[in-house]
Amino acid sequence: MSSVVAKHATDARPFAGLNVSVPDETRARIDFVLGLRHYWANSLFGALRAQYVARLAATGAKPRTGEEAAAIVEALPLYATFAWFERNIQKMMWRALTEACEADKEQLVAALNAPLTTSIGTLELDPSLRLPDYYTNTEFHIQPGGVWSADLNAFIYELGAKVIFLGKNDDYAFHRLFAEKGVPDGDYKDILDMGCGFGKSARPFVDRFPKARVVAIDLSAPVLKLAHRQSEKLGKRIAFFQRAAEDTGFSDASFDLVTATMVIHEQPMPVVRRTLAEAHRLLRPGGRLAILDYHRTGDPLRDFLMLGHARRNNEPYMGHILSVDTAALVREVGFKDVALLPFDERGGGPREDKTWPERNDWHFPWVLLRGRK
Ligand SMILES: C[S@@+](CC[C@H](N)C(=O)[O-])C[C@H]1O[C@@H](n2cnc3c(N)ncnc32)[C@H](O)[C@@H]1O
Repeated sequence: MSSVVAKHATDARPFAGLNVSVPDETRARIDFVLGLRHYWANSLFGALRAQYVARLAATGAKPRTGEEAAAIVEALPLYATFAWFERNIQKMMWRALTEACEADKEQLVAALNAPLTTSIGTLELDPSLRLPDYYTNTEFHIQPGGVWSADLNAFIYELGAKVIFLGKNDDYAFHRLFAEKGVPDGDYKDILDMGCGFGKSARPFVDRFPKARVVAIDLSAPVLKLAHRQSEKLGKRIAFFQRAAEDTGFSDASFDLVTATMVIHEQPMPVVRRTLAEAHRLLRPGGRLAILDYHRTGDPLRDFLMLGHARRNNEPYMGHILSVDTAALVREVGFKDVALLPFDERGGGPREDKTWPERNDWHFPWVLLRGRK
């Protein structure tokens, strides 16, 4: 294995995003995990692809889908290693980050709950909101306790997101790209970001549309508290609410743009439909929907690995998003001018010609799903 793998260089670099004080050993563990993830996404994936291509050439097999490629990929010598690395790097990551944040727990949690000295935006939590079972029954991304069960988990998740993006989204360039290139120009007065997490998907809209009122919702109180504090610190005016995307409680026709990044793959299919219908209800005539999520690419190897990623990464509903025609769902709830475009997170953004970029690394198959009411 090592001779094949060694041909593919990695571009590992130290993890710069850690903003909590941790012992050197913990920092070294996090850097190690980040390095392993680079190795997995570049070298190991490249070597697995080389084995796959060689197997197709040797057997004359021509799988058309991820499902058809399953038996071929599962028989490759590197497949078990690739799959094992994927799940265990993720587990290692959460252990290292939990340790880093636990070391500073009192200070972090106190800071999250301390009175604010600014009131640029707002935060409205709803302690009576019953979190849905589909949300609380799963530890999405294998994060122990999910993003919702304790205040500290918001910090752990924030750091995890940096590692998962291989240190390439530390300043949220990916989310800025979505706000800048994923949404058409327009005179938006009211913007809603559904499933905003700790705010990185909502904040770029304040910059792109400074005259708009930006509203952001999530189910998790801890991430909303972190989102609100960070937005205050950055001087970004956002109104945060603890609400479900599928049942927001906002008035009909009260927004011009509804967005959701990396959210619908965490919802069961009936809830995805309700979320899309809710977005349609909330939009004014002519209003825009812009969703960034995953989709199959048509490359059988990548599609099979992504279906496996859903299982290995505790994403019980992601397989559905990869199997259905999400553009058709958006049309079914009433949207017009629906488009589903591969989205190149390295800077190109949506690809209007609908082709997937040639890439040698493993990457999330991002698509922009857009529509107009
Ligand atoms: C993978 S994170 C993405 C966060 C953010 N949009 C981003 O791009 O960084 C998914 C977020 O969606 C939230 N979420 C999941 N299901 C939701 C729902 N039904 N309603 C509102 N938020 C939801 C989760 O709590 C989590 O913060």
